[in-house]
Amino acid sequence: MTPDRYQSIANSPLGASVDGRGEFAALVFDASGIDDSARLRALYDFFHPLMRSLRRSGRVLVLAGVPEAAGGPRAATAQRAIEGFVRSVAKEIGRNGSTAQLVRAAEGAEGAMESTLRFLLSARSAFVDGQAVRIEAVGSEDVAVPEDWDRPLAGRIAAVTGAARGIGEAIAETLAGQGAEVLCIDVPAAGEDLSEVANRVGGTSLALDITDARAPDRLAEHIRQRHGRVDVFVHNAGITRDKTLARMAPEAWDAVLDVNLSSQERIDDALLGGGLLGAGGRLVSVSSVSGIAGNRGQSNYATSKAGVIGMVAALAPAMRERGATVNAVAPGFIETAMTAAMPVAAREAGRRTSSLVQGGQPVDVAETIAWLASPASSGVNGNVVRVCGQALIGA
Ligand SMILES: NC(=O)c1ccc[n+]([C@@H]2O[C@H](COP(=O)([O-])OP(=O)(O)OC[C@H]3O[C@@H](n4cnc5c(N)ncnc54)[C@H](O)[C@@H]3O)[C@@H](O)[C@H]2O)c1
Repeated sequence: MTPDRYQSIANSPLGASVDGRGEFAALVFDASGIDDSARLRALYDFFHPLMRSLRRSGRVLVLAGVPEAAGGPRAATAQRAIEGFVRSVAKEIGRNGSTAQLVRAAEGAEGAMESTLRFLLSARSAFVDGQAVRIEAVGSEDVAVPEDWDRPLAGRIAAVTGAARGIGEAIAETLAGQGAEVLCIDVPAAGEDLSEVANRVGGTSLALDITDARAPDRLAEHIRQRHGRVDVFVHNAGITRDKTLARMAPEAWDAVLDVNLSSQERIDDALLGGGLLGAGGRLVSVSSVSGIAGNRGQSNYATSKAGVIGMVAALAPAMRERGATVNAVAPGFIETAMTAAMPVAAREAGRRTSSLVQGGQPVDVAETIAWLASPASSGVNGNVVRVCGQALIGA
């Protein structure tokens, strides 16, 4: 990789920039050329003198290559080492509301990076911290550059499950705010809230229990008749039925696995098999940090959420072949009805045990999904991005 590979970024308003007080809003370093552990010192040399000049809510971004594709063991070792650096810097600057991320770009991914850099350098990624995002090589014909970066979803049709409240409601609002026409889906019992959300975002609603055996067909038929296709499908609906395994009723296992995982698989089959989500399509699933680390009392939930991660990995190659993508977000502690139902001590611990020392908001998850859903994010495929303020759980 050439040293000037990211020159255009460094010269753009997205690059390291100094505000009026002489503080940096962002520090961006291209580490993709580091091919030996001895050269990792370049990270220290660049960042050490600048760290005290990073302003509050600042951004650190390190660009790197893909270790497995590096030219030999030494280069691969050095490229892998960068991850420890970025995650540690994130832990040092989090109390100031600042974040640090690593972007690993494959050879040939240069043209597909802009949406990711814009997101990670903006306030929209406020609760995404200490993450390593991978960008695949894509042909220039597959990278859509939006006319308006504030409305990259203009003309796109999006569907969101569990849209009547909480994170799903925020996803519907955010996708609509960025230009999408949104189909809001939730259980019939949520009817009034669902219609209210759909009206507010200028979208439509469909009352549907996604675990119903006929749900995939009903959904596919609805999309075919009303819209002809769907560009973005967000699997957000999810439930918890927490109990330690010894105390867990079989119904609690079945319900959680069915809502959080099996129904998603059936819907994916209907959408992909029916040709409703084609080239440029975006599947985004909501996992959880519990699915990465496991959690006491959540053997059912963590199984379902780890399954979502497996589903993303398994579908990614086929989605790439279609010119589409599949990714997941893994939220940590987000302030919703789900977390409001937690015992007080656990809730407070959930807020504090992250680098940013606070809980996230539904909009933080929604903004991350909007980035993954963007037509400009065609290189982001098979990623699981935590939206957890670098929670200690599973860190
Ligand atoms: N809140 C958090 O801290 C947190 C953390 C990690 C992951 N998550 C995940 O985020 C997603 C949204 O969580 P939330 O906190 O907004 O939850 P929530 O309970 O506030 O909302 C979930 C929505 O899904 C809907 N839903 C449930 N079962 C359904 C079904 N069978 N068919 C259709 N809709 C159904 C509900 O009616 C509800 O409107 C879930 O997948 C959850 O597991 C949340």
